[in-house]
Amino acid sequence: MCGITGYIGENKTTDILIDGLRRLEYRGYDSCGIAAVGPKSSLYLKRVTGRVDALDKLVAEEPLKGAGAGIGHTRWATHGAPSEDNAHPHTDCSGRLVVVHNGIIENYLELKEKLPGHKFKSETDTEVIAHLLEQHLKGLHVQEKAVRSDMLEPVFFEAFRRTLAELKGSFAISAVWANCPGMLLAARMHSPLVVGLGRNENFIASDVSAFLKYTKKVVFLNDGEMAAVRKDGVDYYNFHGRKTAKDPVTIQWDSTMAEKGGYRHFMLKEIHEQAEAVENTLRGRLLPLGGDILKAEMGLSAEAIKGFTGLQFIACGTAFHACLVGRGLFENFGVPAYADVASEFADRAKLMPKGTLVVAISQSGETADTLFAMREAKTAGAKVLCITNTVGSTLTRESDYVLYTHCGPEIGVASTKAFLGQLAAIYLLAGHFAAARGRLGTADARRYAEDLLRVPRLIEETLAKEKEIARVAESFAASEHFLFISRHLNYPIALEGALKIKEISYVHAEGYAAGEMKHGPIAIIYKGMPLLAVATSGRTLELMAGNVEEAKARGADVVAIVDAESRKTVKASRYITLPSAPELFTPMLTVLPLQLFAYYVALAKKCDIDKPRNLAKSVTVR
Ligand code: F6R
Repeated sequence: MCGITGYIGENKTTDILIDGLRRLEYRGYDSCGIAAVGPKSSLYLKRVTGRVDALDKLVAEEPLKGAGAGIGHTRWATHGAPSEDNAHPHTDCSGRLVVVHNGIIENYLELKEKLPGHKFKSETDTEVIAHLLEQHLKGLHVQEKAVRSDMLEPVFFEAFRRTLAELKGSFAISAVWANCPGMLLAARMHSPLVVGLGRNENFIASDVSAFLKYTKKVVFLNDGEMAAVRKDGVDYYNFHGRKTAKDPVTIQWDSTMAEKGGYRHFMLKEIHEQAEAVENTLRGRLLPLGGDILKAEMGLSAEAIKGFTGLQFIACGTAFHACLVGRGLFENFGVPAYADVASEFADRAKLMPKGTLVVAISQSGETADTLFAMREAKTAGAKVLCITNTVGSTLTRESDYVLYTHCGPEIGVASTKAFLGQLAAIYLLAGHFAAARGRLGTADARRYAEDLLRVPRLIEETLAKEKEIARVAESFAASEHFLFISRHLNYPIALEGALKIKEISYVHAEGYAAGEMKHGPIAIIYKGMPLLAVATSGRTLELMAGNVEEAKARGADVVAIVDAESRKTVKASRYITLPSAPELFTPMLTVLPLQLFAYYVALAKKCDIDKPRNLAKSVTVR
């Protein structure tokens, strides 16, 4: 996830771009930059590693004189480490054509090969767009020989359109050409892009927060649409170059609301971004299972995959709960797997069986305990694979293999979409391991991949139950103690449910393996105590139904997380019914009502949901 912004008009271009980037920083903040057409068709370009404040300072030192068409970008690295070279905008060989991009160009390596002689200066997928555009411009120039100045805009437009036709993946793109100062171009496919309509000035951005200060009149582009933006008007087209009619709408939000996409809190917004987080993490990596795509990306050979004797997961907090799901999943495929919280791993490191692959999971890639444990594992001679959301983080630099989740920045302190991204990565990894080691035959591997690809839609269906879940949560607003129970692959989800509510509501909550209840914890149940039981269909359903009975008999007020089938077996006081899913994949759904439950309890208790007390987003001390 990155933020893009664009401006064309008579006001101070750089100020407007920088102001927009500041409001988009929640979408990424590891580097940023702006470019604009300067006086006498020169190109002004400034980029920095780090935040928008640093860019602002640089621009103030060497300001752009005048106003023109300009674009800006704040980056959340996906391809290439956070660095000035990898910061957007990216230029073509001439340095007169600039591009910003949010998304992933899946076929960038293939396209790069078709551009011999072009000088690439970054490791990003985006730069290929600038060079491809340059190539198409050259082609059109040659055909048209000397391009008259009144033909520059149509030529730029056509070259842009031809470029889009070659891109695969997701993108919101904007481009400016110094030869063509009166027009900026923008296009959208699977990444958000919105046009802002002003008086004698117009804007584009990843979301309306970037320009709400200047205009509330906006046009939302759909996938497959592009816009030619001039200061006195905007024309809309499909990717075939045919004009389309678009109606502006008036936005009622203020700019803080807009950053959160209209949600009250980043946590809620991020809960709703989970289908996309899973989709982005799976994109282009799933088929064929056991094939080369993922292995090449991680630098893991099929031989290496076959050679590992087992897996050892390490992480902290929510990421540790992802590890526990991973342990169960790999065991399901007959691969020995262990999971430990990173802060308790030190002695285990020396005792790991030879040939163990250590899997370190961390959203930030900077958690001190996880880094320490990873180093202990390396000292003990193990290979380390990390799963992280943060390109260029310490964890990625020190691991042998890296598997990125593509969730975009997570701002809410309580982790939600990063957890789903971690699960998606674990399911990818497990599928590839199982296929490479012959534990999934061709037909089973295909079914596994198809089931996994269906998860984002099931996530959306589950989140559609939000109102119902909110009502249940609100009824427990006064409760001070909560229990969460489940079994097998959903046992870690019970732990995660308890952690979420503790973090943001400051109540006492415990997650238990349901079978453990009768060995002690059942004693704490009192009349009316809220108990959330994850009891979806599968091999542990009968046992779960029994555990629910035991809890009810001691007075617990049981909310059962079920599917239509398991609902017939579990006798609870209340139900949250999820769409049916294959048993193996249920953790990616069952956690969703628990996140929403925690959110709405915290909301009812009027807690500071995005910044809970005593907590920090990244824990860089041991
Ligand atoms: C819980 C939460 C924390 C983190 C933990 C690890 O909502 O956010 O428990 O999961 O601090 O952080 P990362 O994944 O950055 O290593």
